This record gives sequence, C-alpha cells and structure tokens, in this order.
Amino acid sequence: MTSAPVFDAKIPEAASPKVEFISLSHLNPSTELNPIPTRGIDLKYFRHYVRSLEEGGYDYTLLPYGAASADSFVVASAVGQLTERIRPIVALRPNTTFPLVGAQKLATLDQLTEGRAVVHLISGGSDAEQARQGDYLPKDRRYARTSEYIDLLRRAWTEPEPFSHEGEFYRFDDFGPGFAPYGSPIPISIGGQSDEAFQVGGEKADIFSFWGEPLDDLRGEIDRVHDIARAAGRTTLPRIWVTFRPIIAQTDELAWQKAHEYVAKISDTFGKAAYGKQRFITAGSPQNVGSQRALSFAEKSELYDRALWTRTAAVTNAAGASTALVGSPETVAAAILDYVDRGADLVSIRGYDTLADAVDYGKHVLPLVRQELAHRAATGTRGTLQAEHLGNYAEEYRRHATAGQA
Ligand SMILES: Cc1cc2nc3c(=O)[nH]c(=O)nc-3n(C[C@H](O)[C@H](O)[C@H](O)COP(=O)(O)O)c2cc1C
Repeated sequence: MTSAPVFDAKIPEAASPKVEFISLSHLNPSTELNPIPTRGIDLKYFRHYVRSLEEGGYDYTLLPYGAASADSFVVASAVGQLTERIRPIVALRPNTTFPLVGAQKLATLDQLTEGRAVVHLISGGSDAEQARQGDYLPKDRRYARTSEYIDLLRRAWTEPEPFSHEGEFYRFDDFGPGFAPYGSPIPISIGGQSDEAFQVGGEKADIFSFWGEPLDDLRGEIDRVHDIARAAGRTTLPRIWVTFRPIIAQTDELAWQKAHEYVAKISDTFGKAAYGKQRFITAGSPQNVGSQRALSFAEKSELYDRALWTRTAAVTNAAGASTALVGSPETVAAAILDYVDRGADLVSIRGYDTLADAVDYGKHVLPLVRQELAHRAATGTRGTLQAEHLGNYAEEYRRHATAGQA
C-alpha cells in the first residue's frame, strides 16, 4: 500500500481546469482477450464503434497507423462522415507521406469535418517496422525529419504565396498557396519518449502524449517537455495527453477479479502470438523508449499510486499502450483526476474488452470526472471523490488486488 496523499479541498496548482477524452477506434471485434483472425474492417462493427464513442461523450478518437494496419487517413475520413462532433486524430508517420501531401490530406479532412482534424506524428519506434515501408533512417534522424515536417505542414496551411524549400529531408519549388484547413490551425501531436521526441515535441508540438506512468514520473516528464517549450521561447505550452487501459467493474473487488482473468487471457494470446498486430512487433527488448519505460515500471512494481497496474504491460512486452487502471468507476475516475491534478488535460482510455468498455466508461467514468471538474469550476474547491475512493491508498483494495495470487 502506498501512503495516501492528502485530498483536501484545495485544488492543486498544476491541476488542469479542463479535460477532454480520447479513445482509439477499433475496426473489428478482435481483441487481446478474444483474438479473431482477420485482416479486415467489419463495417457494421466499426460504424457502431465510432457512434458509440460519440454517444459516450468522448471528444476525440485516435486512428492508429502501422505498416499492416488500415490507412489512418481513409479511416479518419470515414469517422468524420459517421459522426457529428468527435474529432479524428490521424496517426501519421512522416516517411509515408510527403509533407505537402500530408498537409493537403489533413486540410481536406479538416474541411470535410468542419474543423475537427488532429494529427499525431509518429516518428517510428522500431527500425524493423520502419524498414517494412522502406524507411532506413535511424531514430534520431527520423525525429529530425519530423521537425522539418512540422514546419512544412504549418507553412503549407498558412503561406499566402508560393514558396520553395531546400532542407535536410525535403526539397521542392514554387508550392502554394496550398489547400487550407477549415478554420483554426490543425493541432499537431507528438508520440514518443526518447530525448529526441521531447526536443521536437517541446519546441513544436501542440500536444505531447504519454502512456500511463506512475504519477511522480509523469509529472517529471511533463516538466521536462514544458521546460524545453519555455527554453524555445514558447508562451503556449504543449497540452498533455496520457493513455490508460482501464479495467472497471461495479466494485474494486469485482474489478480485480476481472483484471486477473484478463491478464491470464492476454498472456495466453500473446504467448500464442494470436493477436493480429503481434507479427509486427519486434520481439525482445523494444527499441522505443515509451515501451522500455513501461517495462521498467512493471519490473519494479505491479501497482502504483491509487490504481495503476503494470502486469498488462509485462505480459504484452509493453507493445502499445498497455498500463491499466483497475477499480470501480469511482476509483478509476479518482485515479484519472490524480493525473489531471498533475497537469494532464487529454485523457485517452481504451479497454481490453474494447467496445463494451468504451460504452461503460462513457456511462460510468466520464461523467464522474466531468462532475468533479464542474464542481471545481463552480466552487473553486476540490470535491470528495478522490478522498472517498482511495484504491491502493487503502488496505482493503490491496487485499482484492492480491486475492487468489500465489
Ligand atoms: C498516445 C500514443 C499513440 C501512439 N500511436 C502510435 C501509432 O499509431 N503507430 C505507431 O507506430 N506508434 C505509435 N506510438 C508510438 C510512438 O510514437 C513511437 O514508438 C515513437 O515514434 C518512437 O518512440 P520513442 O521516442 O519513445 O523511442 C504512439 C505513442 C503514443 C504515446
């Protein structure tokens, strides 16, 4: 058990006043719990999925990208047409698309969705995965390319006159003015946790994203990216996105039963290499720092803070977002608020039972977080949710967490 911090009425200084929710969109019902061999899009399911996200009150949906995945731009365009409000976040690897073409596609998506497009730039965490699509640059150069890419995206969207460019990675003549976004600039997010990711993200990104980490470690990383932004002379700091895979049930005890069942199934799936994406994940020690960090947290402890559980990272070699938050909706909402109190203002949640969980979070978790933030806005004080649902800061929770364990 971790000793409980004080959850009094004073709103922490670093707390974000507002939070928006993200969830990744799934194209078919295959999950790590129940893998279904498929290479395709189940259109009925996908339609239902994105509409459920919109009805559930999420603000954004991430369309991930991999060499063998569906194309994130095409999927994002479909999301736009299937929904009215939710904002598609296109994961884009610069190696796949010339920057001016990327700018054009994003501006087109933005116009087609009346200003809802967001881009998440992926510099590439695995040399082998990059090589599958002909990209042989080492990672530090890939981030240097991302930096040039960001400049060109923004110029392509805003330059009123034709311009030419000769940089380290790109060269062209007499481009523009290009196709413009719908209205305000399209937000640019960066994923990655290497030093290079921090440098580019701190200097240039509108959003910087993380996978779920222990609270103090995450706060240290937020300070790091914000310090780089300040040193670059920025007055608007990057917004902070943090991602979790919550496992919820009516009570903490039931959530822990579910968590133990889930991890056995996930471990089995990964042991058999039965989940689609796995073929494309490098075996052994991952090259991307985000996964290395997740594995090192998992090695040190299974449980951190109020409800952060790392076993799911350990059994999947931390391939993609993998750390869980376990508990009742109240405990998980309180745990999310702990991150909001540390400065996170974009919270991405996606379950292991993907569609059912997205619906459950929409009904039971999002409203609790929003209620608390509304209470804070109205009263200038913190509500009682975090003080009342202590999770791992209380003895009983730890008993549930270890029940049935060897
Ligand atoms: C929220 C989030 C979403 C991500 N989505 C993708 C994705 O769709 N495709 C992908 O290849 N990598 C994705 N990544 C992984 C990293 O961006 C990638 O491994 C990074 O470019 C290199 O890692 P490093 O800087 O941590 O070493 C994502 C990372 C985060 C934090």
